Amino acid sequence: MNAFTRRDGRLWVEDVSLDELAERHGTPLFVYSATALTDNYDALDRALGDAPHTLCYSIKTNMNLAVVRTLVARGAGIDITSGGELFRALRAGASPEKIVYSGVGKRDDEIDQALAAGIKMFNVESRAELRRIDAVAGARGVRAPVAFRVNPDVDPKTHPYISTGLRTSKFGIPWGEAGEAYAEAKALQHVDAVGIDCHIGSQLTEVQPFVDALNRVRHLLLELRDAGHAIRTIDVGGGLGVTYDDETPPSFEQYASGVLESVGGLGCDLVFEPGRSFTANAGVMLTRVLYEKRNDEKRFVIVDGGMNDLIRPALYQAYQRIEPVGPARGDARAADVVGPVCESGDFLAKDRPFPPVETGDLLAVHSAGAYGFSMSSNYNGRVRAAEVLVKGDRAALVREREGYEDLVRGESIPEEITG
Ligand code: LLP
Repeated sequence: MNAFTRRDGRLWVEDVSLDELAERHGTPLFVYSATALTDNYDALDRALGDAPHTLCYSIKTNMNLAVVRTLVARGAGIDITSGGELFRALRAGASPEKIVYSGVGKRDDEIDQALAAGIKMFNVESRAELRRIDAVAGARGVRAPVAFRVNPDVDPKTHPYISTGLRTSKFGIPWGEAGEAYAEAKALQHVDAVGIDCHIGSQLTEVQPFVDALNRVRHLLLELRDAGHAIRTIDVGGGLGVTYDDETPPSFEQYASGVLESVGGLGCDLVFEPGRSFTANAGVMLTRVLYEKRNDEKRFVIVDGGMNDLIRPALYQAYQRIEPVGPARGDARAADVVGPVCESGDFLAKDRPFPPVETGDLLAVHSAGAYGFSMSSNYNGRVRAAEVLVKGDRAALVREREGYEDLVRGESIPEEITG
């Protein structure tokens, strides 16, 4: 569903006016559609039919408690990468038995926290980590369910910063070591190797790399079963791309049928870790035009949202579609849309046709529901934005805008040192 549509020339989210939300809550402001979130969840769930599956929403994408709860209420589990994300998932009401824990660097205290909660599975990225999990589980007197994240050496054909399944990547254990790793796990007292995990990257716009990687996983599974390992879960990771500009990623149906072709029918519960495909196009960031400025070379539209609020364009040269919430004031001419942060890299759009604007005009930066607020920071002494969740004609502020006191929370001035 497209939750963002025009009424009388102005942009709305579901049955709520974006102008009114910006008026009430200020800018920059993240606005999410609950209906878009649940429609996405339902579409993937439906596409998987009666194949046993658990959809573990990748909470790193958008960790707002209300967003997470919206998906959890629909049946979602959660994919976490830290103790902090576990805390958030539980606070949002997620069931521990539907939580999977990924990531290359898990600390002992985080492992212990996850064991205490009773999560579904640790996705283990090295044998050194396996031994730590075994030791921590031993100290607690429990057995930890684990899967190895195997690195299939498949090129996901996406941005290098978000490719994770190549041989050169820090993620996963090398393919050739998988047999030994499972043998080691079997010999340990406090881990149970119950699954195989594979995540090759993010924003994939083709099905084939998923299929290639998962075909390798199927072969590995059969080999491991022959070697006496009782593998009953396959975690296929996340990574399904979305449309930011003119990409044509696979539909949930095409993606699901590619996955099921490769690893369906093996008697395994299939875990999915969708992130962006659930949240990206369920959200926008609203920002207001401060002023326009020109030099000999360029036209700059300066807005009140910057790279600290939405870092994707600066960090990955990512394209995010931007449009005025009101009707265009005239013909588009090239512009950079830039924020107030003191960095040349602080732009939301570069050399893009953009209509004339006036001070105070409200702009919507699209596809900001994923990796937007969750990657935001206080750089340049900027308070983090507010977040609003909408369903139908109801809107709720689900995170207040920070205040200046939040900027210094936890800091102190030790005068015996500072003078
Ligand atoms: N599972 C694992 C193990 C992951 O590392 C990720 C994303 C996901 C699932 C979710 O992937 P998704 O379905 O969202 O593609 N900040 C970057 C993306 C970083 C991706 C990190 N891992 C961006 O804004 O493009």
